[in-house]
Amino acid sequence: MAPNAYFCFFFSTIFFAFSVISLFPLAFSRDLPETTHASLDVSASLEQARAVLNFDHETVKPLVQQKEPLQQAQVGNSSFFSVQVYPRESLYKSSHEDYKSLVLARLERDSVRVESLTTKFQLALDGVKKSDLKPVEELLPEDLSTPVVSGFSLGSAEYFSRLGVGTPAKPFYMALDTGSDIIWLQCKPCAHCYQQYDPIFDPTSSSSYKSLSCASPQCQAFQIPRCRAGKCLYGVSYGDGSYTTGDMVIETVSFGSSGEVNNIALGCGRDNEGLFVGAAGLLGLGGGSLSLPSQIKASSFSYCFVDLDSSKSSTLEFNSVPPSDSVTTTLLKNEKIHTFYFIGLDGLSVGGMPLPIPASVFQMDASGKGGIIIDSGTAITRLQIQAYNALRDAFVRLTRDLPSTGGVGLFDTCYNLSSHTTVQVPTVSFRFSGGKSLSLPAKNILIPVDSAGTFCLAFALPPPKSPSLSIIGNFQQQGTRVSYDLANSRLAFSPNKC
Ligand SMILES: *[C@@H]1O[C@H](CO)[C@@H](O)[C@H](O)[C@H]1NC(C)=O
Repeated sequence: MAPNAYFCFFFSTIFFAFSVISLFPLAFSRDLPETTHASLDVSASLEQARAVLNFDHETVKPLVQQKEPLQQAQVGNSSFFSVQVYPRESLYKSSHEDYKSLVLARLERDSVRVESLTTKFQLALDGVKKSDLKPVEELLPEDLSTPVVSGFSLGSAEYFSRLGVGTPAKPFYMALDTGSDIIWLQCKPCAHCYQQYDPIFDPTSSSSYKSLSCASPQCQAFQIPRCRAGKCLYGVSYGDGSYTTGDMVIETVSFGSSGEVNNIALGCGRDNEGLFVGAAGLLGLGGGSLSLPSQIKASSFSYCFVDLDSSKSSTLEFNSVPPSDSVTTTLLKNEKIHTFYFIGLDGLSVGGMPLPIPASVFQMDASGKGGIIIDSGTAITRLQIQAYNALRDAFVRLTRDLPSTGGVGLFDTCYNLSSHTTVQVPTVSFRFSGGKSLSLPAKNILIPVDSAGTFCLAFALPPPKSPSLSIIGNFQQQGTRVSYDLANSRLAFSPNKC
């Protein structure tokens, strides 16, 4: 062979090799290449963990009352509203002696919530029969046998907003919940009210308070409407035996200084029993017709959760436009349960490599079973066993250089990082339908479980016998603005937009 023929062969081989190499990433990634590693600032996490037990609550309590008259907004005209969102620990002085007991209490609450979420899902799949509701009704006073909706104890809520109710508006802390629809707060006169941070709402001091008739569409929106003397009643019972019940009424709800909306149907809780924390009530953000976004006909809403251990706050917004650089996926409807926000997810990656998980693991089947939802109230992402095992195994394989230690609470993959200030961890990415990927920052992958340096992979299994529901939790959403584009059935994630 002539020297220049060798030369040609040599170069075409190299060219061929390059073509093959460059084809491979295309086969895996239909969009931007995923990052393979992320840096975890161990020292900063531990500093925050140590500080959370010693917040100066006087300086972080947002006690601003509205002074100026609020702008009136028309329902459905897409007015922009914004209120602050605070993590639980910035409102309630922690009673925990150390960070580990705080974390274990959070994980306990989280398990209770996931348990009630999956029960609610199973009930919806089975179809609620009146006979199913009986044991719950027996908990309620006889003369207040009300529409019963299962919900989540406020005790499990981690993020709160301050909204105004009535005219003139009085401010109340309300727990945010995308897993339920009804808005309710404690009302005077109380048969029983638990202790709350703000004075209890008194309808007699509000000029916009109106009762809601039994025949109203809002009352008929309940699966089984309950009425007394032509007026609508409501009741929400929680898996732990606690409940709230009272009149379903019409009130004006205001959003800080950004505006107010008239004629919102909400529950005025006259009998509120159980393990509630000091919030006045609950703000249902679900997909059902009685939720706040549905009632104000919001085209979208979004929130950004600061870290659970942060003393900062961010915002809950309605009718805002998601940043153009956000990662989006589809919001899917489940005909069996309108409350939950199901999303399109194709798979997961660890360290930039797609995991071998059948796509069906994240898909809702024809009967409405399965699928994956995004939830504001669940902390730790729950994955079905096939997905969880694949994720955990890949993560363990890529972290052999990190000192592993025993499991804690729901976590089986933990590391002793006490002698590190920063570590490189493999990224975990959600591969959404439509081709976009969201790579989680390291602090949304490893969770500190004590203040000594133990960190765990912050993913877990759902409870046994659950109806194959996977859940994206708020620990994985921290620091990211999550926009529910209701008008276009899209969900958008915008990292670092708190
Ligand atoms: C973590 O490692 C440090 C030394 O690097 C050690 O002193 C400590 O006991 C370990 N903690 C646990 C829980 O194993």
